[in-house]
Amino acid sequence: MPQFSDATRGRILFGGDYNPEQWPEETWHEDVRLMKDAGVNSVTLGVFSWAKLEPEPGAREFDWLDTLMDLMHDNGIGVVLATPTSSPPPWMGRLHPDTLPRDADGHIEWWGGRQHFSHSSATYRHYAAAITEDLAARYAGHPALTMWHINNEYCTFDHGDEAAAAFRRWLREKYGTLDGLNTAWGTAFWSQGYDSWDGILPPRRAHYLNNPTQVLDFRRFTSDMLLECYVAERDIVRRHTPRLPVTTNFMSLWIGQDAWRWAEEEDVVSVDIYPDPRDPLGAQHGALVQDMTRSQARGPWMLMEQAAGPVNWRGVNHPKPRGVNRLWSLQAVARGADAVCYFQWRQSRQGAEKFHSGMVSHAGERGRTFQEVKQLGAELARIGREVAGNHTANEIAILHDWHSWWAGAQDGRPSTEVDHPAVVHAWHRALWDAHLTTDFAHPEHDLTAYKLVVVPQLYALTDAAIENLLAYVRGGGTLVCGFLTGVADEDDRVRPGGMDARLRELFGIRTLHEWWPLDAGESVECDGFRGSLWSEEIEADGSDDETIRYKGGELDGLPAVLRKGRAWYVSTLPEPDELRGLLGRMAAEAGVRPVLDRLPAGVEAVRRGDLLFLLNHGREAVTVEVPGTHRDLLTDTTVTDELSLGRYGAAVLKP
Ligand code: GLA
Repeated sequence: MPQFSDATRGRILFGGDYNPEQWPEETWHEDVRLMKDAGVNSVTLGVFSWAKLEPEPGAREFDWLDTLMDLMHDNGIGVVLATPTSSPPPWMGRLHPDTLPRDADGHIEWWGGRQHFSHSSATYRHYAAAITEDLAARYAGHPALTMWHINNEYCTFDHGDEAAAAFRRWLREKYGTLDGLNTAWGTAFWSQGYDSWDGILPPRRAHYLNNPTQVLDFRRFTSDMLLECYVAERDIVRRHTPRLPVTTNFMSLWIGQDAWRWAEEEDVVSVDIYPDPRDPLGAQHGALVQDMTRSQARGPWMLMEQAAGPVNWRGVNHPKPRGVNRLWSLQAVARGADAVCYFQWRQSRQGAEKFHSGMVSHAGERGRTFQEVKQLGAELARIGREVAGNHTANEIAILHDWHSWWAGAQDGRPSTEVDHPAVVHAWHRALWDAHLTTDFAHPEHDLTAYKLVVVPQLYALTDAAIENLLAYVRGGGTLVCGFLTGVADEDDRVRPGGMDARLRELFGIRTLHEWWPLDAGESVECDGFRGSLWSEEIEADGSDDETIRYKGGELDGLPAVLRKGRAWYVSTLPEPDELRGLLGRMAAEAGVRPVLDRLPAGVEAVRRGDLLFLLNHGREAVTVEVPGTHRDLLTDTTVTDELSLGRYGAAVLKP
């Protein structure tokens, strides 16, 4: 199998999406000059080039791309070549309306934007395979080509007729019989029993709540169909270039793809990360996605896209203060990235993203953005040899599963205030604040290497996952589960008792009488902390070793947190400081130490191999204690016992 290291060859890849078709040829030469100036060693070509490559059905125009591939090679810049299949040319929709997806209301998603393709359309798949085949055949031997990038941010849905037929096929394969489907979907409820496969639809606009298991299966189906599209193109390029790695870029904690499953089909796991520079937790948001991507990759991964400055899709789009682009890029490297890339190289002058930053902004070469990009390029080149390829295993894992998310994120639940990604963020943040670095894992993964396993919320769990958690605790692991965990099975059928009996026994819960969700802004008092979002009326069975109780209100005196041996259950969301304290205690008892014991506020410390990354997310200069003598690879200076970090400053220390 090709490896990421085949493309990085001991360096950190630095560059971004390059869309030269938006520019005259003179600019291409200017681009190359600036790329070399900035230390760019990799560009992604062709992401949105389909109309240029195939201006009419079956036509091929490769000359311009030949010129660019040669130009890149002549200048020592590698090319990650994209299949252009995320944005079909307008002729496709005009000649083949069957390629256009429909939403749940039956409305067509027209051309004129992007990603207007139906994953289920045989016509779309035919054209996508044909252009991929010809692209791969033409550039297979080209010396600039280092890697393949399939499509871009797979994220579409289709509720139309061809998708409906595909959904039925998918369901037949899954359930075999209509009885099986009717049972799994619980169609006895509301007179939904199906007497024919032909009657089954994607969840289209209905008068009132759609069947939740139908919705859940539709999410599974959509992820699988998009994956089929990816695999079809991947297999074509692999046939031509068996030794080149293949990737497709994920979005940050995006609900639409089961990324655990997808990652198994990739040689390189890549992701796009766009934290809001104004968000005080922007750096933690980045850290979470980086931790998740590294865990999916089980090694070095690729930051495929970030913004050098502002994006253009928030309400208000803030630029990055001086130093933040560098800081967040180094944060990604600290957490395992072997590529730091951007959307996009040169800021567009036309089109929907002309106010989205590029590595070369409208201000051009003299602009601060480019100057900072250039500094970063030089620094990544300096540290690349020491960093690239290193992987650090952590002792803590947070469990996350898309199927559970899909099952839980539906209408008709106890509270619309419970936003699953926000809950995952809250638990990750608590570890981040405590300088406890973490992996992510799937609930059915082998967890034995971890000393502490954190389950922010796994609403739906398979029997295999539950048995895995029990075995983990039996084997000496420390497990902590947050509320709304183990409520349903994989069909979204509520487990008897409202929480799986094996888990209740694990935590010492006799009866879970009621869930008491909290309103926005409401909190409950517990012994020593306040909780928000949720609370529960729990009756303990008396076998627990420790109880933290609710104080006051309806739940006064009832358990808010239960510990039985090494298993903890937390029935509310403790305030950030308290959650940090709680997790800090669990980690200490499980024998997990923070990266450094003493760190000034706002400083993040991460180990990658034998290197220690120190990242000051604060606006004030700080002094960090680092006992011993080290070499700071960024400045090539010696650091003894302490180090000062300026505003948004960073250091990469080697012992
Ligand atoms: C995504 C896409 C890019 C671009 C950026 C803008 O990541 O892949 O093409 O639209 O968003 O932030």
